[in-house]
Amino acid sequence: MLDFEAYRERRVLITGGLGFIGSNIAQKLVHYGASITIVDSLDPLYGGNPANVAEIRDRITVHVGDYRDPSLMKPIIRDTDIIFNLAAQVSYIDSSRIPFSDLDLNCKGHFNFLSSAANRIPGRASFSLALGLSWEGS
Ligand SMILES: NC(=O)c1ccc[n+]([C@@H]2O[C@H](COP(=O)([O-])OP(=O)(O)OC[C@H]3O[C@@H](n4cnc5c(N)ncnc54)[C@H](O)[C@@H]3O)[C@@H](O)[C@H]2O)c1
Repeated sequence: MLDFEAYRERRVLITGGLGFIGSNIAQKLVHYGASITIVDSLDPLYGGNPANVAEIRDRITVHVGDYRDPSLMKPIIRDTDIIFNLAAQVSYIDSSRIPFSDLDLNCKGHFNFLSSAANRIPGRASFSLALGLSWEGS
């Protein structure tokens, strides 16, 4: 069972946080006193919607941008304790239709993000990767 109390006063970054899973995590963790920052591209092709966080909008920080943009992400990661990395395109059809952009977003982008985040966060970090894989480590 998850210990949600452990998130109290922790700085949590959620990439893809305006999507289905990320917005639900944001709502849950705000309730437990976490400080939430979301980065979401709000690309109309994907599932993000500001309405997903409407109820907690005044209690979180939202950046509309691409999680693959180092100039956006570096300062945010520096001020983060825990990351849920949920930015993704989740359509199996699109992964066949546009395989190279799918690879860039769902594979290469996550690898680069994981590498740079692992180098910048001194303590422990939690990752949730495409396809639901998760990683936790220091
Ligand atoms: N929904 C499920 O049942 C389920 C189950 C297991 C795993 N997952 C995985 O969890 C992750 C999130 O799934 P979801 O259902 O919340 O999808 P979703 O489409 O609702 O959310 C994905 C979010 O990522 C954002 N995004 C896309 N490209 C981005 C970029 N370049 N930079 C920043 N944000 C970007 C989208 O705008 C969207 O808000 C995916 O990796 C998915 O494979 C989902």
